[in-house]
Parts: sequence; structure tokens; C-alpha cells
Amino acid sequence: MTSDLIARALHVIAIVHWIGGIVFVTLVVLPLARSLPDTTAALHLFEGVERRFVRQARVSTLVAGAAGLWMAWSYDLWMAFHDPAYWWLTLMFMVWLLFTLLLFVFEPLFLHVWFDRRAQRDPTGTLRLAQHLHFGLLILTLFTVGAGVLGAHGGL
Ligand code: HEM
Repeated sequence: MTSDLIARALHVIAIVHWIGGIVFVTLVVLPLARSLPDTTAALHLFEGVERRFVRQARVSTLVAGAAGLWMAWSYDLWMAFHDPAYWWLTLMFMVWLLFTLLLFVFEPLFLHVWFDRRAQRDPTGTLRLAQHLHFGLLILTLFTVGAGVLGAHGGL
């Protein structure tokens, strides 16, 4: 077994964990939280799950990025990032960059505080907004997974 194959397996495992978590939060936790009559309990549920998942997602994002860069280096794909035919490769990198900024920069710097303040003012509206934002990220990441598989196997 080559190091490229190990990197590919790690890349996919990390992405399954990370995107699977987004699926669970978006399609299970947020609808459940929004159905609760007590908004304090609803926010507590969502924030508790999200806080635990964010810690894990930081690890899977790092593993996915490191394994992806390893493959890009190993297959000598740097020029492909300038080639429009490899748009799916650039998309993977952009999605990874977006999440890296969200998880490592925006969330600790201001997103968490902003969410808390807004939730105190308008808990119902804030949970609705959180669900819409998560749904948008879910569509983007699922599209990227599909494009990644098709692109990597010559389907695009
Ligand atoms: C730093 C960021 C990333 C880099 C450098 C990267 C790089 C790569 C490379 C080089 C491949 C193999 C392409 C080939 O075989 O020709 C690959 C495959 C793949 N990547 Fe990424 N990737 C990154 C992030 C992501 C993200 C964020 C996702 C999903 C949201 C993703 C999903 C996939 C999938 C599904 C495959 C196909 C695996 C397979 O079927 O063999 N990647 N990636």
C-alpha cells in the first residue's frame, strides 16, 4: 500500500466525520432544538452539541487538509489549481479554507460572542438563522464531496 492511498483513505475518513457532523447538526439537532417550547433549553442543546462538535471538526479539518495537500504534492497537482478543468480541486481547497477560517479564526474571535448576544435578544430568530446558515454550508459541502469523487475518478 502506498502513502498516497493511505493519504486518500485519511482524507475521506476525515471528510466523512466532518461533513457527517454537519448533516447531524443541520438535519437532527437544529430541528429538534427548534421544536422545543423552552427557548433556553433549545439554545442549550444546540450550543452544547455545537461546542463539542467544533472541537472534533477542528481535528478532522486539519487531517483532511494535510492529507489533501500530501496528495496534491505527491501527484504534482500544483499547476492543476490554475487549470479551469480542475475547478473541483480549487473548490475543495476553497471549502477547506472557509471552514478553517470559521473554526480557527472567526468562531473564537467573534462568532461565538455575536451568536450569544443575538440569541439573548431573539432566541427563535437566531436558531432559525443558524439552521439556514448550516443548511447552506451542508449543500456546499455535499456538492463538493460529489464533485471531488467525480473529479478524482475522471468523471468531470
Ligand atoms: C486543503 C484542501 C484540500 C486539498 C488540497 C484536497 C486535495 C485532494 C486531492 C489531491 C485529491 C485526489 C485527486 C485525484 O485523485 O486526482 C482529493 C480527493 C478528494 N477530496 Fe479533497 N482536498 C481538499 C479538501 C477537500 C474537501 C473540503 C472535501 C469535501 C468537502 C474534499 C473531498 C474530496 C473527495 C470526496 C475526494 C475523492 C476521494 C476519492 O474518491 O478517491 N476534499 N482531494
